[in-house]
Amino acid sequence: MKIHSNVYTILIVFLFLIQQIISGCSTTVTKGLQKEDLRKIETDLVSQNLFKNKCSLCHELPDIDGFSSEEWTAIIDYTHDTKAARKFITLEEAEKIKTYLKSMS
Ligand code: HEC
Repeated sequence: MKIHSNVYTILIVFLFLIQQIISGCSTTVTKGLQKEDLRKIETDLVSQNLFKNKCSLCHELPDIDGFSSEEWTAIIDYTHDTKAARKFITLEEAEKIKTYLKSMS
């Protein structure tokens, strides 16, 4: 009887340790994912703001659905690669806006 209860105690402690290890691992993974998700949301919001602010300077804000992914590339890389446009939008900003528009269309 005494031996048996000792075995049970050891077993319970052992299971408790395993449970701790498993839950420890899963929280680390979840935290990593959340951080990545948040960074993506942040990047999207920055790009969305750039689009709203910069692309409404010379004309009304264009409709995102009005153009395909390829058309957005052409509009930003060729049509809008002018001296006037560069005064308002840096190359880096243009890249962010392009990525955003392509992901939305
Ligand atoms: C420096 C002023 C200026 C800024 C800033 C500007 N545009 Fe334009 N955009 C123009 C002009 C001028 C036209 C008309 C060009 C034409 O019709 O050939 C135009 C036309 C367009 C068109 C219509 C193209 C078509 O073929 O119908 C789209 C779409 C467009 N712009 C998107 C954008 C986006 C996206 C941004 C932000 C990255 C932006 N524009 C920022 C000046 C600007």
